[in-house]
Amino acid sequence: MLMNRHSVFVVFLLVFEMKNCLAPDGGLSRGSFPQGFVFGTASSSYQYEGAVEEDGRGKTVWDTFAHSFGKVIDFSNADVAVDQYHRFHDDIQLMADMGMDAYRFSIAWSRILPNGAGEVNQAGIDHYNEEINALLAKGIQPYVTLYHWDLPQALQDRYNGWIDRQIIEDFANYAEICFKAFGDRVKHWITFNEPHTFAIQGYDVGLHAPGRCSTLLHFLCRAGNSATEPYTVAHHVLLSHATVSDIYRRKYKKTQQGSIGMAFDVMWFEPMTDSPEDIDATQRAMDFQLGWLMDPLFVGEYPRSMRTRVGERLPRFSAAEAALVKGSLDFVGVNHYTTYYAKHNSTNILGFLLNDTLADSGTITLPFKDGKAIGDKASSIWLYIVPQGIRSLMNYIKDKYYNPSVIITENGMDDFNNPFISIEHALKDDKRIKYHGDYLSNLAASIREDGCNVKGYFVWSLLDNWEWAAGYTSRFGLYFVDYKDNLKRYPKNSVNWFKNLLRSA
Ligand SMILES: *[C@@H]1O[C@H](CO)[C@@H](O)[C@H](O)[C@H]1NC(C)=O
Ligand SMILES: *[C@@H]1O[C@H](CO)[C@@H](O)[C@H](O)[C@H]1NC(C)=O
Repeated sequence: MLMNRHSVFVVFLLVFEMKNCLAPDGGLSRGSFPQGFVFGTASSSYQYEGAVEEDGRGKTVWDTFAHSFGKVIDFSNADVAVDQYHRFHDDIQLMADMGMDAYRFSIAWSRILPNGAGEVNQAGIDHYNEEINALLAKGIQPYVTLYHWDLPQALQDRYNGWIDRQIIEDFANYAEICFKAFGDRVKHWITFNEPHTFAIQGYDVGLHAPGRCSTLLHFLCRAGNSATEPYTVAHHVLLSHATVSDIYRRKYKKTQQGSIGMAFDVMWFEPMTDSPEDIDATQRAMDFQLGWLMDPLFVGEYPRSMRTRVGERLPRFSAAEAALVKGSLDFVGVNHYTTYYAKHNSTNILGFLLNDTLADSGTITLPFKDGKAIGDKASSIWLYIVPQGIRSLMNYIKDKYYNPSVIITENGMDDFNNPFISIEHALKDDKRIKYHGDYLSNLAASIREDGCNVKGYFVWSLLDNWEWAAGYTSRFGLYFVDYKDNLKRYPKNSVNWFKNLLRSA
């Protein structure tokens, strides 16, 4: 085709237009998602705030754990973290610059109640009021997590925290204080972040606070019982959630009009082979992860595979408790990062050494098959990139739990905190852009083509931050944080990518 000057101009205009409205990977845009779909970033109090001794904050189990020798890989703690306690105004501006609709953060229980119960600390209430108001002033909706692992140390000392039933009353008291103080402006509450992770990491393998376990004949932990405590902890979490949800519905929902969810850590699993044993094992992997919490919330009892395999060690709900728990969730928060293979465990050598939830499940999950990885790896040893896993997972939840409202409360990938590369180099995070582009495309397809009821998507995380036992070695942020120069924030390329996506029609 011959082009005259005029048509060259038209083509130029067209290309220019397309560049402006076409989102990042040619296709993905706001319009790929339903009207009202919410985009945000996520964080948590202990990983972000710092200021651990300020304004009357009480100690938490994570302060204690991080300050115990050898628990955190780079011997760091989060005393300062990324200092969001002092810099939230600037950080909120960073979210606004990207065009984010929402921010998921957590309240530190020990800022509100330094001893976990008893006297309320007004300075803590004032702090979160300011943060919530600052978000709303920029048009950003607060999604607030009540418990993101930082249990007040006082409750751990008094009665061993989540192992004791007293925690239900104390958590409910704390939650109600938050509803009263913030519920006029907070419309999305997340009672718990990743109960499965903190039950396993804190009480089965002992790699997170409070560091209890009995595996390998108590070689790793002084105290704990990996065969019972994770189940007790999860049971008390469910009862705490249900109690709080009931209080909210009876006393606050009518005037405050909010909803209450929980954020579950959920990997997707593919069977290692198509043998019936491996297919069963794959279902058990799901039961011992998501079903453990979701079945009681939707069906009123633990999955059958858990009841038969764990037996007497699995707590039971009374009829009244089951009724309280069932139906107490308004939306399902999903923290999803990766997919593994699952296979039937045919060995029993480790049985008496482990005697824990892993042995109970009779399933081994691995990111490899025949020596080949399931996907490209991020920095964390556990994080393999398998974008279609999110679509399979959304369909599983839709089919198994009557298509509930789902919010992706975390999704993201990390780079290694390499001290030898320049900041300029670290800002080029093309791998992260691809990760989000691919996961979001699969998520959009699960909504549009499969009818999954997904309402929002939160990136983990706004900033590089303190990643628990991995300390500062892992960088999950859209913004780079310079730990060597006053925690200055720099936008990685992914910031611009999200900005374009969120501006697109
Ligand atoms: C495999 O299963 C056996 C018997 O069910 C159990 O004793 C053992 O601990 C399991 N091994 C792993 C690694 O889960
Ligand atoms: C596993 O632990 C439970 C609870 O402490 C105990 O009753 C059981 O005997 C243990 N089983 C093995 C094989 O050690």
